[in-house]
Parts: sequence; structure tokens; C-alpha cells
Amino acid sequence: MKNIYSLLPDSASVSENGDFIISRFTIKELAEKYGTPLYIYDAVTVQRNIQILRNCLSRYYPGDSTITYAAKAYFSYPFAQHIAKMGIGVDIVSENELLFALKAGISPHKIHLHGNNKTDSELDGAIQSNIHAIVLDNFDDLNRLTHLSTRNYSVPVWIRINPEIDVNTHPYRQTGHALSKFGFTISDGQAENAIRELLSNPKFQLRGIHTHIGSQIFDPHTYSEAIHKMLAVAKKSQWLPVEVCPGGGWGVPYHLEEIDLDTGIEHWIKEISKTIQEEYQDTSFIPHLFLEPGRWIVARAGIAVYRVGGIKSLPNGEKLLAIDGGMGDNIRPSLYQAKYEALLAENPLGKPVTRYKVVGRYCESGDTLLEEIDLPEVQAGNHLIIPVAGAYHLSMASNYNLVPRPAVLWIENGEVTVLQKRENLWDSWWC
Ligand code: LLP
Repeated sequence: MKNIYSLLPDSASVSENGDFIISRFTIKELAEKYGTPLYIYDAVTVQRNIQILRNCLSRYYPGDSTITYAAKAYFSYPFAQHIAKMGIGVDIVSENELLFALKAGISPHKIHLHGNNKTDSELDGAIQSNIHAIVLDNFDDLNRLTHLSTRNYSVPVWIRINPEIDVNTHPYRQTGHALSKFGFTISDGQAENAIRELLSNPKFQLRGIHTHIGSQIFDPHTYSEAIHKMLAVAKKSQWLPVEVCPGGGWGVPYHLEEIDLDTGIEHWIKEISKTIQEEYQDTSFIPHLFLEPGRWIVARAGIAVYRVGGIKSLPNGEKLLAIDGGMGDNIRPSLYQAKYEALLAENPLGKPVTRYKVVGRYCESGDTLLEEIDLPEVQAGNHLIIPVAGAYHLSMASNYNLVPRPAVLWIENGEVTVLQKRENLWDSWWC
């Protein structure tokens, strides 16, 4: 059944007086105390998602496995501490992500560094910190690391293969097609040459093979295609990787029409597991499997809360509902035409009576958060809740118009803690 609750955090509900609540807090009280726009993460949802991933892995994969959260979906220092407590690793792409992860207590043995253009300082930081693997993306990356690794031991690396397949997602989210900037391509021999070079160069310890074909994907078969292709090139290069990572990218529904697309995370893990077992059936071992989900762990755990400033009627009868955030904290509708649902915090179960277009506060005509949404009557001062706001909103947020980035809360065991204070631009930029 298409139900708004399947888009909401596990701790969300509606109180007896009809208020939207999360854990034991009404949105109104949180918005009053912490201001808006406000992002709220529900610990239970994050913890449960990780447990579901773990259960699926132990059910379907016979070998060892590790979950490494893709920090780019959302990261902050307190959030990294929660990730550390949950015992999973992280995939990182910058020095600050590395710093936050290490300081928060995430084991370096569960950290991988990605990136198509890593700096010397990022590579050096990764070497000094003894992370599990640097994921080599192209020959420039490989050459840079060759020059940097002057020490007497081999740097542990993975190789990222571009399997040259198209996946069904927004073009900006595809990363495994032949013209992508990511990974060593197979058809022109780059992948094979790189593997041979890495195997013969004592400066490297080639531990694993990696691919990431894109994001917001619902078809498990594209993963088997990618895994078959990357392992075929490894075999051709006389190499049987002991670590295999098919990336992340499993999708989540954002609005009611997408709920049917969601065939469940177990289909993803089952298919990956089956494919790897097929590939290794003639060998005496099964590789260590690494999964790198970002969105699937945090997207539904987060909601965004905005205050309605006013409602403008257009000559064509449309009603524009203006909120106090927009493309500065959520660029996804402008960048990918991403669609969302919205709920009125003061009357979440109310009968929809009016169709609104929800526009942001930024000086840009493309700053539209929802093209259309049917809601009960809304008044200035009401609060609008956007579900599935936990991934790639804040991590891609900007300071356009010098608007500070929102405050971010974490709700666990009926307690609120702050993951990020509302930004103070004066302090962070000039003082
Ligand atoms: N591994 C690698 C190497 C990645 O580049 C990514 C995401 C992931 C794992 C995690 O993918 P996820 O499980 O979160 O889909 N801004 C876009 C998504 C960009 C994803 C970038 N890479 C969006 O808002 O849809």
C-alpha cells in the first residue's frame, strides 16, 4: 500500500491532537527552539537500516563482509561518532572526511579513500593514517601515488573499474558508463594494464577490485553485470581479488509513486552475493565483500522542516507557497528534477484541499522545491515537513545569498542533540 509512513523516519507519528511528532517531540516545539530550516535525524532509523544490511549480509553472503558508509551522503563530526559506535566503516573523498572519521574513532582499517582527482595531501594523509585502501581511479592517480610512496612498505590499494554500462537513473548520477570520469575503462585495455602494473610494482599491495555504477538504482541485475565485467578483467590479468566492492547506489523511494520501485535491499545483496559466488565457484575461497551504501542508510532517517513565509496567488490561479529554505539546503530538485512529498506539521493527516507549488527563498527562479503538492489549507507561520531528506541535502548545501546552513538535530532515546549548529557565517568566514 502506498503510505506516507513508508517515507518517514521510524520514530515519526501523529499525536492525539493531530501534531506531527518525532520520538516525543512535536515539530512545532523543535522548530521554535532550534529555528528553521531545520534538519532532524532519527537514530532508530539509521541503526535499523544498518542492522537490516547486516542481517542480509549474514543471510546471503557466505564470506566475510564489511559495510562502509558513503560519508558524502551526510557527515558531520558528531554524526561520525555515531557511525563509529555502530561499528561500520566509511568511504571518504576528502581530507576533512578523513579527519572527522579518524577523530570520531572510526577504525582506519575500515576506511577507503575515493576520488577521481585526489590531492597529494589527501593521498599522503591516507598513507600516514594506514587506511584500509586507497581506491585508484586513473593513471594520474596511480602515478601520483607511486611518487608519494617512498616508504619501504607497499601501500594497500583497490582499483576502481569502469564497467562501461548504462544504468537507469538520472544521467548526473551514472558513474559506470564509458564516458564517465570515474574508473579505469575495460574496452581500451586501461583496466588490464593498470592491474598488471599494480601487481608488478612492489610499492603497491593490490588488495581489491571496486566499481560504483551510479546512485538511486533499483535494478539488482545491473550490479551482476558490473561484477561479472570487472571480475572478467581481473581474471584476464591473472588476478583473483581477495576483496570485492560493487559500490553503493541502491535506491530509496522519495515520493509515493516511487514506493513500488523499491523491491527491497535484500534483492540487492542477494544478487551481489549470488554473482560473486558464481565467479568464485572454481576457487577455494570467497572474497571479502565490501558494500558502500550512503543514501540507503540515511535518506529516510532525515526530515527537513521549513517555516512557511507566505502564499502568493498567480494570475493563472496557481498558489505559490514560499518557505524559508530551498536550493541552498536542497539542490536536488534543481539539479536532478528530484520529486518529494510534503506534510503540514500542524495538520499532517488533514484532507488536501489546495494544490501548491513550493518555492524557496533564494534569488533564483529555479528555486522550486516541489512543483505541486496537495495540502490542507496552509497559513503563514505553519511548518512544512519534507520526508527523505537525510542524504545529499546538507552535504551538498551552499551559502548562496549568504544564507547560513541549517541546524541539524539527532534524536535518540527521547533526547535531542545537535549534529550541526546553525551556521554563523560571520564567525566562520572572517573572525
Ligand atoms: N561509493 C561511491 C564510490 C560513490 O561515489 C557513492 C556516491 C556511493 C558509494 C554511495 O552512493 P549511494 O548509496 O548514496 O547512492 N548527489 C546525488 C548522489 C551522488 C552520489 C555520489 N556517489 C543525489 O543526490 O542523488
